[in-house]
Amino acid sequence: ELKDNTVIVVLGASGDLAKKKTYRNKFLPKDVRIVGYARTKMDHEEYLRRIKSYMKTPTKEVEQQLEDFCGICTYISGQYDKDESFHALNKHLEELESGRPEANRIFYMALPPSVFTIVSQHLKKCCYPTKGIARVIVRTHKRPLWLSQDPIELTYSLQIEKPFGKDLASSRELQKSLQPDWKEDEVYRIDHYLGKEMVKNILILRFGNSFLGATWNRQHIDNVQITFKEPFGTEGRGGYFDEFGIIRDVMQNHLLQVLTLLTMERPISFNSEDIRDEKVRVLRFMPAIEPKDVIIGQYGKSLDGSKPAYKEDDTVPQNSRCPTFCALVAYIKNERWDGVPFIMKAGKALNEQKTEIRIQFKDVTSGIFKDIPRNELVMRIQPNESVYIKMNSKLPGLSMQTVVTELDLTYRRRFSDLKIPEAYESLVLDCIKGDHSNFVRDDELDASWRIFTPLLHYLDDNKEIIPMEYPYGSRGPAVLDDFTASYGYKFSDATGYQWPTAAAG
Ligand code: BG6
Repeated sequence: ELKDNTVIVVLGASGDLAKKKTYRNKFLPKDVRIVGYARTKMDHEEYLRRIKSYMKTPTKEVEQQLEDFCGICTYISGQYDKDESFHALNKHLEELESGRPEANRIFYMALPPSVFTIVSQHLKKCCYPTKGIARVIVRTHKRPLWLSQDPIELTYSLQIEKPFGKDLASSRELQKSLQPDWKEDEVYRIDHYLGKEMVKNILILRFGNSFLGATWNRQHIDNVQITFKEPFGTEGRGGYFDEFGIIRDVMQNHLLQVLTLLTMERPISFNSEDIRDEKVRVLRFMPAIEPKDVIIGQYGKSLDGSKPAYKEDDTVPQNSRCPTFCALVAYIKNERWDGVPFIMKAGKALNEQKTEIRIQFKDVTSGIFKDIPRNELVMRIQPNESVYIKMNSKLPGLSMQTVVTELDLTYRRRFSDLKIPEAYESLVLDCIKGDHSNFVRDDELDASWRIFTPLLHYLDDNKEIIPMEYPYGSRGPAVLDDFTASYGYKFSDATGYQWPTAAAG
């Protein structure tokens, strides 16, 4: 249920895209107010000017909505470590709440961990509502929402932004710092991949279709690939990125979340704790990733010389060993999945933008067929959400020739009149509703760091391990195809199959 009378306090933000989009779609509950809090001193006009500058206003209607949105926003500047600053924030909140039957406050922590603890302590001490509910949204990774829009905050974030921990120990430390003040059910750890439409569809597809449920195991599935590709490098973010690398940036969090949803057992219900219990269980069946199952790469200049190498960024050290590409294999030691390789691949500065899951089924019994390609189920998370199954069919005509074709659910064709919500708008609304299903629980975060920490330490500590160079704009390091083939993935280019929707753009 949506809580009316809610004030959302965005700590560390001067304007937040997600709320505006949520607002535009009129999903927000009644009388919501949004308060920005940060150190930058600026008056109300300047604040509104910034908010407006983030939004494109193509139509009159949107312009009006933007005006209305500005009407619910206010801004308070203050320090992150001073009681009086937070008392002033509290006073402002009380003014906004005066006359309301209850005061529900959501604190959105768009903050680096260096001030994270101190802010959460001050919020508890000075701004915790006496009647109504309090919730705190924590980002489990580092990119501030406004990164691409706000050059002032960008400089700031490059210096101190960090993810929710860098490994198991630091994540636990941060975790502990929250505990005295905030109960687990008041904490909402964001991993924005959990807000994506196709990621939210995984459980429905799996458990709502008996033919999928029946084949979802090691008897039928040969290997699974989860791929994240971006066509741009870390230009402008190199300083931040270099400290973390692609594994912490997208694999330990986003891709592992996708893997967890793909492999967990059927939850007792769609209740958030039932879902999260199963997620944690499957993570606990995963041994730590072994270095022998990993390749890492770093991008060099593009072949035509027009795009810079990773190290050409001034904020990146000349001897950086930071991976901007990684392919690794995880295993799940339970009855359902033992022996199935889960190949995760992620890279910056590649040839295209695409995040997808590719499930490759086992070979059909040979005899009547010679070299007939394997079935694949592809769930494309972005762009162009779709689910398709590659299957073999008779080529129409007089011969018995087979052809690879597909059963295709492409969202923009099938659901052409529905708008797909942005990940953040859906997650902020979930928090207002008090629904934890798509947020990361403390033990889940812990379990995910446990799987990755030995590998991360191994790569950090062994100075002789140098990532393989690949050209900006390529598919990644040259060994990639051999790597995936060595875990059983069979690419059948003989068929010349191309997914038609991809070809159509
Ligand atoms: C962020 C990473 O968490 O996710 C970025 O820090 C990455 O490096 C981004 O670009 C990808 O998110 P999306 O929603 O654009 O796929």
